[in-house]
Amino acid sequence: MNLHDVLNRAIENNRKWCSKGNVATYIPELSKANPCALGVSLCTWDGKIITAGDCDTPFTLQSISKICSLILALQDNGREKVFSKVGMEPTGDPFNSIVKLETLEPSPPLNPMINAGAIAVTSLIKGSDVDERLERLLTLIRAMADNNQIDVDWEVYTSERETGNRNRAMAYFLKDIGIIDGQVEEALDLYFKQCAIKITCQDLARMGLTLATQGIGPCGEIIIDPAIAKLAKTFMVTCGMYNASGEFAIRVGIPAKSGVSGSILAAVPHRMGIGVIGPSLDKKGNSIAGVHLLEELSREMKLSIF
Ligand code: DON
Repeated sequence: MNLHDVLNRAIENNRKWCSKGNVATYIPELSKANPCALGVSLCTWDGKIITAGDCDTPFTLQSISKICSLILALQDNGREKVFSKVGMEPTGDPFNSIVKLETLEPSPPLNPMINAGAIAVTSLIKGSDVDERLERLLTLIRAMADNNQIDVDWEVYTSERETGNRNRAMAYFLKDIGIIDGQVEEALDLYFKQCAIKITCQDLARMGLTLATQGIGPCGEIIIDPAIAKLAKTFMVTCGMYNASGEFAIRVGIPAKSGVSGSILAAVPHRMGIGVIGPSLDKKGNSIAGVHLLEELSREMKLSIF
């Protein structure tokens, strides 16, 4: 069976899961997504894209952007500075949980993949203002995806900014305990914008390949320092699927990062990148059909890194 058939069959077999979850509604604009959609795109080692299912509808990066902001913050500041503001440990709590910020003594957020940690990381991105910082982040994402058209979805951004009170609360707490040094509102604004960057499955697949190749972009140029690409993939394994990362490692075994748009970015080291969209989410905020689909692909193509 060729790759096209493998993907088509995985879509057919797993679409049924869409009805078992729900589309995110806490960001009102995301509630407009089609809960029955399921699409997958795969970018092979030679840069070839293969797609199946509903791959043409764009969606927003949401938490997948946390990988890109971490890469840029590490490039801008180095490991020592970044990891003085955010930890390296999984939490076992939901992605937007506040509780450990205070109960573990006022201390850095546990990792860069939870919202509190991601906002702290975003505050480290260099640039004279939010526009310049966003442009630098877009430049990285466009290079990883080999797509200069990638931009912010302004409706989703506005929707996030108007309803992001929990993120706002965490950011002000981080300012209070000295984790955010600069302007809180600027860090939040960049965070809302990065989550609202609009992409497709094909973009995600190419971004996944860039990580899988240890930072070499689709056109052969070095986009990410190999040590940083390795670190990003390690966080994808330990915290990329939030408090379902352990189960995902066992069922799928591929470094991956999810977003509440129902998107998943997966990087199979030295083999391929995979992009998935399926807006219907499970209780922990991961694409319910998307996770099942990746489980099937991993089994069929022996993709687990373990
Ligand atoms: O800040 C938020 O809550 C969203 N913009 C992103 C969260 C997210 O994608 C979590 N994903 N599973």
